[in-house]
Amino acid sequence: MARNKQSFVCQSCGSKYSQWAGRCDSCGGWNTLIEEINPELPPRGLGKLEGQKIEFTSLQAETSNQLRLATGIHELDRVFGGGLVPGSTVLVAGDPGIGKSTLLLQAMAALSEKNKSIVYISGEEAAQQIRLRADRLNLNAADIKLAAATDVRNIISSLKANPAEVIVIDSIQTMFLDTLEASPGTVSQVRGSAQEFIRHAKEVGSVILLVGHVTKDGQIAGPRVLEHMVDTVLYFEGDRGHQFRIIRSIKNRFGPADEIGVFEMTTRGLIEVENPSSIFLNASKISTYGTVVYAGIEGTRPMLMEIQALVAPGGPGNPRRAVVGWDANRLAMILAVLERNTGISFNTNDIYLNVAGGLRVKEPAADMAVAAAIISSSKSIPVPTETVIFGEIGLSGEVRPATQSNTRLKEAEKLGFSGAIIPTGISSKKNSKLYKINTTTISKVADLPTLIDKEY
Ligand code: TYD
Ligand code: MG
Repeated sequence: MARNKQSFVCQSCGSKYSQWAGRCDSCGGWNTLIEEINPELPPRGLGKLEGQKIEFTSLQAETSNQLRLATGIHELDRVFGGGLVPGSTVLVAGDPGIGKSTLLLQAMAALSEKNKSIVYISGEEAAQQIRLRADRLNLNAADIKLAAATDVRNIISSLKANPAEVIVIDSIQTMFLDTLEASPGTVSQVRGSAQEFIRHAKEVGSVILLVGHVTKDGQIAGPRVLEHMVDTVLYFEGDRGHQFRIIRSIKNRFGPADEIGVFEMTTRGLIEVENPSSIFLNASKISTYGTVVYAGIEGTRPMLMEIQALVAPGGPGNPRRAVVGWDANRLAMILAVLERNTGISFNTNDIYLNVAGGLRVKEPAADMAVAAAIISSSKSIPVPTETVIFGEIGLSGEVRPATQSNTRLKEAEKLGFSGAIIPTGISSKKNSKLYKINTTTISKVADLPTLIDKEY
């Protein structure tokens, strides 16, 4: 007989405990344990009951060339890997208010123009509110079936009666499965509801897009568990103070991961940005202390962005290290390597680091740009605006080559940069003939201060 088992589930990592505690032992989150009645029984082996036989097929079946549904919004289709794959489930995650509903409404309107049947189910907004948004986006003529509902049983039954090719569930945190006693938004509800939607997508071959809100610390609220259940995970990033929005694929079973699409939030919704590099750079091109142009790669695309550092005299006590758009631990490492190899001391300085435009950089190849920005600010030497920098820094102060340097250099050249400081070993003699851009190679961080100081 099924026995209701009481347990406490961490809302940020999903770990289960039999007793309440103030802090989750596995992820370290405070006050994240919530009591949930869990009807699941622990597995007890198979027993004697015979199961049904499953069928085996071969890899050669005709599934390989799936027909993708392209929205026609190129920045979005690229992130999907060419379009939506029928039968798949996509999680679109992001901070509340970043623009998930807006983007999905726009994408659905675009798909409906291609005669796809679309259902948009909102658990957060009334149909009237969605109509108002559509009005504002000039999309009210689109053929989209709307519903405001949260009961998963009702939703699935209605979808079975009225099949649709693409279904949006906005958001998964508001969905409610009546077989579970937990309240909506808890790990078991989110996981249980998502499971039902995924099963439905696979059964009828629809695409289901689940919207998921992200908590303060960047996890998809409650369940990281959703990430491995769905086929594709997209994160909507961007600073609400800036108009740029980046949609990034964190996981994609049907396309490249880490691909990005860039949008601009305007009064008439999200507009594609086709040439992102040119936007994230300061148009004025005046050299300032502490500003460096980094030639990065986002997904498969090169992207130039500004990295800014401010090294200021600190007050008493521990110096401040404030980082926006980069990893704070990585900054600590770069500072330690710089102190050791260049003799510059940062002990008494506050350091602020910022990636302009609200971008978030994850590549280690940004190390050299960060180091150059810090040196430039602390020694008050401007880095020439027409120079780009990239390269990874190792703990012993060596500069390591970065991937796809040719792509980076080509992008810099395309945007009118005339010089590049790059790691030794790549783009040596034979490659350098490919570019008009003037490359200067560097193999040790120790050489960086003199290199920046050099007159170009
Ligand atoms: P929304 O899509 O509702 O965010 P989410 O679903 O991720 O919570 O977007 C809300 C924000 O977008 C809100 O702050 C207003 C802004 N916005 C615009 O700037 N222009 C527009 O055309 C629309 C529809 C929204
Ligand atoms: Mg929304």
